[in-house]
Amino acid sequence: MTHIAVLGSTNMDLIAYVAKAPQRGETVTGREFRTLPGGKGANQAVAAARAGADNVSMIGAVGADAFGTQLRSTLEHSGVDTDLLRTVDTAATGTAHIVVDDEGGNAIIVIPGANGTLTALAPGDEGLIASADTLLLQLEIPVEGVLAAAQAARRHGVRTILTPAPAQPLPPELLAATDLLVPNEHEAAALTGITEPRAAAKALLAQVPEVVVTLGARGSLYAARGAEPVLVEAPQVTAVDTTGAGDTFVGTLAVALAEGRSVPKALAWASTAAALSVQRPGAAASMPYRSEIDTAANGAAS
Ligand code: RIB
Repeated sequence: MTHIAVLGSTNMDLIAYVAKAPQRGETVTGREFRTLPGGKGANQAVAAARAGADNVSMIGAVGADAFGTQLRSTLEHSGVDTDLLRTVDTAATGTAHIVVDDEGGNAIIVIPGANGTLTALAPGDEGLIASADTLLLQLEIPVEGVLAAAQAARRHGVRTILTPAPAQPLPPELLAATDLLVPNEHEAAALTGITEPRAAAKALLAQVPEVVVTLGARGSLYAARGAEPVLVEAPQVTAVDTTGAGDTFVGTLAVALAEGRSVPKALAWASTAAALSVQRPGAAASMPYRSEIDTAANGAAS
């Protein structure tokens, strides 16, 4: 039985698709607008559920509004337990204002709203974390809340995987309670001041025992104390929307590791899932199901 708990953000993504993102002071005409479920926390929960975790639980907060109702329902339809997703009446549901260009790249403004209320654990949260194999954390909620959850996981011997996004300075106590850190190369550089990913990963090992630096289409780099970093390549595909690709990768990776797969196999499987997600629009909406990941992974291997 694999049980993945997630503490993090739930956003409605308001996405404008345009050939090229506007510069400051410029107005451009876009091609399409979509309203799709997102938020790094909710995305990772959906990715883990679709990748086949037996049980996925989301700890988070939405506002008492239509976006909150829609996001709760999306999570439930993906098989995510939302008993600890609170509805607060002091803030609106979080939103992400996203521009996606014709190369699939994006720029995002997040308005945290209800996500900003997650400054501490609430009754029931620690019990849920204690019952999980793995706790997934990101930084779209207040860092105090992330730290409280990571330390709760540490007390109960639950593996913590932290995505340090959006990039920001991290309290040393949070890294001390993290088992696996998964930055992209920009976040790794922001945390270390080192732009070369292999050197940045090695530097991060002073604070966490395992690191995976995601490198987009180039794959992912795994580093652990006492071993040389390993690069696992990603399938080459044409991206239409890379939003949520990192979340797909982490949610799928968590399932693979909880199932006991080796790190290189887990990384390859997670990269396959991320490669599938970038070929479709949206974040949570683009995430593949386990059967699709297996079919694509088997095709790549044969
Ligand atoms: O990681 C992708 C997510 O970041 C989007 O879904 C958006 O909500 C932003 O939070």
